[in-house]
Amino acid sequence: MPKNALLKIDDKEIACPVMTGSEGEKAIDARNLRKDSGYIFYDQGYGNTGSCESAITYLDGDNGILRHRGYPIEQLAARSEFVETAYLVIYGELPTKTQRKKFGDLLRQNAHIEPQMQRLFEGYPKDTPPMAMLASLVASLAGYYPDLATNNFEHDLKQFDLSAAMAISKIRTLGAMIYRHTRGLPFMHPKDLPFCDNFLHLMFSEPYHDYAVIPEVTQALNLILLMHADHEQNCSSATVRMVGSSGANLFTSLAAGIGALSGPLHGGANMAVMQMLQSIHDEHDDGSRFIAAAKGGSKSNRLMGFGHAVYRNFDPRAKVIGEACGLVLKKLGKSDPLLDIAHHLEQAALKDDYFISRKLYPNVDFYSGIIFRALGIPTNLFTVMFAIGRAPGWIANWREVASNPKGRIYRPRQIYTGPVKRDYVPMDQRG
Ligand code: SDX
Repeated sequence: MPKNALLKIDDKEIACPVMTGSEGEKAIDARNLRKDSGYIFYDQGYGNTGSCESAITYLDGDNGILRHRGYPIEQLAARSEFVETAYLVIYGELPTKTQRKKFGDLLRQNAHIEPQMQRLFEGYPKDTPPMAMLASLVASLAGYYPDLATNNFEHDLKQFDLSAAMAISKIRTLGAMIYRHTRGLPFMHPKDLPFCDNFLHLMFSEPYHDYAVIPEVTQALNLILLMHADHEQNCSSATVRMVGSSGANLFTSLAAGIGALSGPLHGGANMAVMQMLQSIHDEHDDGSRFIAAAKGGSKSNRLMGFGHAVYRNFDPRAKVIGEACGLVLKKLGKSDPLLDIAHHLEQAALKDDYFISRKLYPNVDFYSGIIFRALGIPTNLFTVMFAIGRAPGWIANWREVASNPKGRIYRPRQIYTGPVKRDYVPMDQRG
């Protein structure tokens, strides 16, 4: 392995150190390139650029590998649960029994939303997009817990265990409150219940009739949230790091991540997949119309739930969730015609050279909506569910930024393509 990559620019030879990750990934360290050569690299969308060193999640897009702190996602899906995986993603190790209990207790103790903060809902029209509500509500946590959000890393990190548990627990509670608000239902108070059971209680209980816990539902919710826990430097996690790198507190950085996740090319895809499958069902179509439109190349007609910025193979999460769909529906004694349509669409696309040649496979969003729907969660709340699941990954990324003594504010460069220097023209002399 060479120690340096040599760049020959004009008549100069620039040596850039080579970096190697713990799984053997290689990078050219370009941190001195501009100083040494006056050049920058141009990489629109950063698809070939590493913004950080991180120890949280490893992705191998060519081989469909996803590991959190070294543990394969398939093993976590089969043997772990959301809160345990959240602890692993944030703290780097699977929790001992004592650590798991302490973390769970912190989550229960911080499940409520202050009565004064609940009044913020009065300002949202009932048809406000759920992710817009969630982003602003999470940002406002900094106002209700100012001591946890001082924008001073040294101080905020001393409170990290509390602010992390608070963020995970309250994003879950806010998600349920958003559901209730959009339906004009009274808010429920959190109970002394495990994380997922409390979510289902907050969502579906009635004032005088508590939601009856169904183990299969709790198990399915644990699985689907766990599958969303983290995913390397995706658009929303990179956004959390970007905002955190300015010294911004955890809640403010998470609110920015929620904004990034809301886009249809990212977390909004799970809603778009269900809308696509429902259209196919309602039109008694076989999906060929969507596949034909998707091959047109327009970003607005893409086959939602297909393709990925990193995976050039199956998204391992899609495999696990796809297999779980049938099991969850069977355990709940339900069926969903959209699942059959999804399977048919997947098979048709995977035989089509357009998708094969571009290595486009189902991603995490392709099947997740089927499970959310089986759990009684409405489509317009699917991306909020993604945010509840992704909170641990965002928090872990913010902590890496805040804890890095050599960290710098993220400040990408650009190639300027605007007008060259010109002089001011007084109004009366303009065309
Ligand atoms: C998530 O980063 C993460 O890790 C994200 C995520 C996470 O856990 O955080 O995994 C979650 O966001 C999953 C992705 C959800 N989005 C969708 O399902 C929306 C549909 N997918 C696409 O929009 C697209 O695949 C992206 C946005 C996911 C990736 O886009 P890229 O990397 O910019 O891909 P690209 O535009 O370079 O595509 C290469 C080619 C293009 O065709 P050509 O120009 O070569 O002719 O593939 C085509 C694209 O037009 N293409 C698709 C397609 N995805 C890419 N064509 C049809 N349907 C699609 N879905």
